Amino acid sequence: MTEKIDAAVIKLIQDVNEMTLKRMNEPYHVAEKTNYNDLVTTVDKENERFIDQQLEIIDPGCRILSEEGFGTHNLTSLSGHVWIVDPIDGTLNFVRQHDNFGIMLALYVDGQPTLGYIMDCVNRRLYHGSRGQGVYVNEKRSEPPVSLDLHHGLVAISSPLILSNVHNLPAVAQAASGLRMYGSAAKEMIGVLSGELVAYISHLRPWDLAAGRVLAEELGLVVKSIDGTTPDVLSSNLVLVATTQASEDIAKITG
Ligand code: IPD
Ligand code: CA
Ligand code: CA
Ligand code: CA
Repeated sequence: MTEKIDAAVIKLIQDVNEMTLKRMNEPYHVAEKTNYNDLVTTVDKENERFIDQQLEIIDPGCRILSEEGFGTHNLTSLSGHVWIVDPIDGTLNFVRQHDNFGIMLALYVDGQPTLGYIMDCVNRRLYHGSRGQGVYVNEKRSEPPVSLDLHHGLVAISSPLILSNVHNLPAVAQAASGLRMYGSAAKEMIGVLSGELVAYISHLRPWDLAAGRVLAEELGLVVKSIDGTTPDVLSSNLVLVATTQASEDIAKITG
């Protein structure tokens, strides 16, 4: 049953990406949400409205949790089919860089991570997969990344976390080959999925984590809260996505 949904959602996210790339070069409105570095544009809102409307057609009866609030935002349980939608991830990059942003969708069925989609918009590269069926980049199947250790790998840690010096994270960065910050959970998740990064650590809300979690777990990567617990999909979590080896190395530093 999810095969039909999957094919329709792949087409949907590809269509939304083409709309987004076109809209990026046209005038759009930018507003501050909570502060000067937390932006929302009319393109985020247009994408979300369109995605939510289409999901209701593709998967009738589903419930939707989407960042800008068009979906059924007040979800208190994950029963049934729940779609989690980030209409543009990396809005600040979308506005300032015209690069390094993504679109993310995920389906959880009765709380189980089931389908995940991360579109690397400018490169038109769609990372998608389903539980038990593997992960693909467009049509090509992805191999699980090599379980490199922290010392030999690059890590991404979100800039607010590294600046606030919590959980000994500067020491994690120092123990790695290098620190990278892309400013988009979508791009950073892709970094770990593709083996370019050995770990990503960030404070993530449901729509920042949901799709990456499906794909990372399918590739055998570790996805957990920094304290070792399983992240709660409906709230905000300080999350680590990493190779098994890097996750063990990081745990020794963060305690
Ligand atoms: C943000 C980006 C950023 C991460 C923030 C997210 P948005 O998403 O993924 O990298 O550090 O926590 O909120 O707001 O641009 O969709
Ligand atoms: Ca946002
Ligand atoms: Ca967003
Ligand atoms: Ca986001």
